[in-house]
Amino acid sequence: MPAFPLPRPFAGYGLGLRKEHYQDFLETRVPVDFVEVISENFMIDGGQPLHILRRVRERHPVILHGVSMSIGSADGIRHGYLQRLKALVDEIEPLFVSDHLCWTRIDGFNSHDLLPLPYTEEALDIVCDNIDRAQNALGRAMLFENPSSYVAFDGAMSEWEFIAAMTKRTGCGLLLDVNNVFVSASNHGFDALDYLQGIPADRVRQIHLAGHSQGRDMLIDTHDAAVIDAVWRLYATAISRCGPVATMIERDDSIPPLPVLLEELDIARHLGLKEAA
Ligand SMILES: [Fe+2]
Repeated sequence: MPAFPLPRPFAGYGLGLRKEHYQDFLETRVPVDFVEVISENFMIDGGQPLHILRRVRERHPVILHGVSMSIGSADGIRHGYLQRLKALVDEIEPLFVSDHLCWTRIDGFNSHDLLPLPYTEEALDIVCDNIDRAQNALGRAMLFENPSSYVAFDGAMSEWEFIAAMTKRTGCGLLLDVNNVFVSASNHGFDALDYLQGIPADRVRQIHLAGHSQGRDMLIDTHDAAVIDAVWRLYATAISRCGPVATMIERDDSIPPLPVLLEELDIARHLGLKEAA
């Protein structure tokens, strides 16, 4: 039985807070409804990044997005990590706390990569136990993001079946990265529309949009370019299924001036308004 409620605030349209734009956020009133930050960059006592986040938080709601909880690790989640994340959550009072459906760490070794899980019953048990532990430690429901992947495992369930079971068993929500669906669908040859049909639409609380690159044999989730038209079309389909969902652009490389990203975010806003009409 899910232990924590999963509130459904429509948080509007936001951007990832990146250091290239710190001054814009500190000195001007940036027209976004929220910002998302990488949790681990702020899970320390003091320092300039935390000081900046506190100031930005005075103006904008914040989403905490983690990259190294390692929810798929068979040896569990580190207690110290959860303690430090909880301290940040208590201070920032974020709209959502999220991480990725992946594993990053084993036997004390941190790969710093979002590695794919085999979508087996055994992995589902491990992931659900870890999610229960994380949510109990934080005292709230979390969101988990579907990854981009470049390998798949034989004899496993589909990613959307795994996500549906995971959200049902733990009560967690889904951070739906539409670009990741597009990238993985292209790399593994499944239909992105089947994916959107298969996920539990009522558990989606946030959407990521990003650009990607063409590698030699597959698409790579590089976050260094504008969102392509096919991903915008997939986004329109996603919001027609999920209803209005907090949406943001993720750009982590080749970061353009803020007005360029705000213009891109306006496309999402426009599609959202069209869907609501
Ligand atoms: Fe993402």
